[in-house]
Amino acid sequence: RKHIISIPDFTREELELVVETAGRLKAAPRHDLLAGKVVASCFFEPSTRTRLSFETSIQRLGGTVIGFADGANTSAKKGETLADTIRIISSYTDAVVMRHPQEGAARLASEFSAVPVINGGDGANQHPSQTLLDLFTIKESQGRLENLALAFVGDLKYGRTVHSLTQALSLFNCHFYFVAPEVLAMPDYICEELDERGISYTLAESLEEVIPHVDILYMTRIQRERFDEAEFKQIQGQYILKAEMLNHARPNMKVMHPLPRVDEIEVAVDDTPHAYYFEQARNGVFARQALLALVLNETV
Ligand code: CP
Repeated sequence: RKHIISIPDFTREELELVVETAGRLKAAPRHDLLAGKVVASCFFEPSTRTRLSFETSIQRLGGTVIGFADGANTSAKKGETLADTIRIISSYTDAVVMRHPQEGAARLASEFSAVPVINGGDGANQHPSQTLLDLFTIKESQGRLENLALAFVGDLKYGRTVHSLTQALSLFNCHFYFVAPEVLAMPDYICEELDERGISYTLAESLEEVIPHVDILYMTRIQRERFDEAEFKQIQGQYILKAEMLNHARPNMKVMHPLPRVDEIEVAVDDTPHAYYFEQARNGVFARQALLALVLNETV
């Protein structure tokens, strides 16, 4: 039983295995790897990409999906604990994919589950399957994961995606630029981990300053749902990427974003050769197929 809860649980070799498997599944689709398996898709928080790409992955690999897109419509509404809910669902299924607003919910679920739990995002904490599709996308667009320069822009405090991805890429000798207002800075625990391991990073104030120096510009949304309205108004609209800013980008530079975007990437950027976020979202299917197949199938 292998739970997928947090990126620090992975070795570099395990991350590389998922990326390599995703590449093989993108190049040569398989339809049999989850034959006979039932996977629960349990979303206690809204999602478009994570839920639908997991469910697509399961069905395209020959498995069956059960589950819910709205935890408020389950017996949690009657007061059932998450522990009991997971105990029951895991007795029906071969794996549980779960998104939950509480940090640590996936780890808790794994303690009560009879089958593997895959974290589809827990509060502001971790989003490991997003990191796996991001690693696959970076490797696909740059040809490697090692020795890259990446800028993470926007909500670095609450952005579980950038927390997981920074931790993963810290195994590949990359240099990071963190571009955020002070109130949304990368959490101390991530910077301390980097410091302890001697991994270099730069705190930067403007998008223009970092664009010429990076291979990947990773934009994020200011997560309105995690602020009160007064705080949100103070930082709304900061760090908007405009097409003309890309005139000074390296030719190989790709713009990524976990999506959904609000206004942080102008629509005109979509038509530039640097835009890669829609292919990134599409890659969610291949990375999640690889993850599910490796968790549930000995031979891929
Ligand atoms: N990237 C991401 O997690 O998107 P959703 O919230 O739509 O799943």
